[in-house]
Amino acid sequence: MSNGTENREQWGSRFGFIMAAAGSAVGLGNIWRFPYITGKNGGAAFVIVYALIVFTIGVSVMLAEFVIGRAAGLNAVGSFRKLKGGAWPIVGWMGVIAGFMILSFYGVIAGWTIAYMLKSFTGLMAAGAAGKAGDVFGAFVTNTPQVVAYQVLFMVITIWIVYKGIGEGIEKYCKIMMPALFVILAILIVRSITLPGAGKGLEFYLKPDFSKLTGAAVFAALGQAFFSLSLGMGCMITYGSYLSKKEILPSAAITVATLDTSVAFLAGFAIFPAVFAFGIEPGAGPGLTFVTLPNVFAKMPGGMIFSFLFFLLLFFAALTSSVSLLEVCVAYFKDELGWTRDKASWILGGIITALGVPSAISLKGNLKIAGKDFLDVMDWGSSNVLLPLGGIFIAVFAGWVWLESAKKEATNEGKNPFGWMSAWIWICRVVAPIAIAWIFVKGLKW
Ligand code: PHE
Repeated sequence: MSNGTENREQWGSRFGFIMAAAGSAVGLGNIWRFPYITGKNGGAAFVIVYALIVFTIGVSVMLAEFVIGRAAGLNAVGSFRKLKGGAWPIVGWMGVIAGFMILSFYGVIAGWTIAYMLKSFTGLMAAGAAGKAGDVFGAFVTNTPQVVAYQVLFMVITIWIVYKGIGEGIEKYCKIMMPALFVILAILIVRSITLPGAGKGLEFYLKPDFSKLTGAAVFAALGQAFFSLSLGMGCMITYGSYLSKKEILPSAAITVATLDTSVAFLAGFAIFPAVFAFGIEPGAGPGLTFVTLPNVFAKMPGGMIFSFLFFLLLFFAALTSSVSLLEVCVAYFKDELGWTRDKASWILGGIITALGVPSAISLKGNLKIAGKDFLDVMDWGSSNVLLPLGGIFIAVFAGWVWLESAKKEATNEGKNPFGWMSAWIWICRVVAPIAIAWIFVKGLKW
């Protein structure tokens, strides 16, 4: 038991840790979901509310996770067991289960990004030129063996990186992929906003419309902030457990949240100006990314290259998130059950891949549980149930149950005090539990 703390692996540098944590946060959720819900919920007005939530509740829960993880130096379950015991390890358990569930369907969708990188060169543009990218998408997702093949490929890459370890795997590759992601995003933004007619897209995306800022919009912002920052399932506890005692945690939490929010916000600049420049209706969700955008790229000179770059961007975003999901599970089996990293990575990765197959099959629309596609059930159960519940308990743990030690850990035993300490405590005590309980109760609607 808990062989994790002695000789525990550590991040090699602050930069490496920030890239890994930001890599976990920046994912599929940022690139297609954020721009679309912003466009729908009042543009700039929504961005303001979203940013407010991220920099109050989001940053506070993230700091709580870093603090818990670093203090214990263990996986999500072991951390609660070591710091408090009792029923608290159940919170870690829910996180591990959420890791299994999220990665099972995340791997399926992430596999599409590989398929689409290749398709950029093999017929997707020709179909898009005829406005037929929707047919390509429909034919692809209903071809289960193909979808599973790409899912397996994506999962093997994920498993291999996790198997290589913290420094030589996750950190090393996030240090390459995250900066590459920023460069690709910059190229796509410049291309998009310099197209004639791009202004209309910016107007659609950002024109503040306070009348759309309803309760539903605030609710959407909360849920999105939580999922996007990878909170509530012990990801940041696990990543925090590999941190050195010198690292200044409050500024790390702010940096990661800022990077995540910037990528989400900027993704809209890469997408909407181009969509409107070519007079195409902006679609929603998977449709926007896998149908609308190929139709748009097909109309651009050099569209093939931009299409490839866009799906490479999505692939990097997904991969740096998927490794964090698998690491939550691997760290648990390694610390608590004494498995080696090799064994844990390949066996758990294999189980999660198998668990994803029903999600892949359900894309054909004939594998449903109580009327919902299997993939949506996994998404709903993790995002609407396990993550918010985990978030409430993490905030309560830091704010009430384990407060004095949390304060010490957050300030490095008083050596690095931070100005917003009392705000952090009160957000953990009152604001975050109430706000997150609201996500939970409203999200329970099937
Ligand atoms: N934050 C990731 C995204 O936006 C998803 C994720 C959630 C990753 C929870 C890890 C843990 O896509």
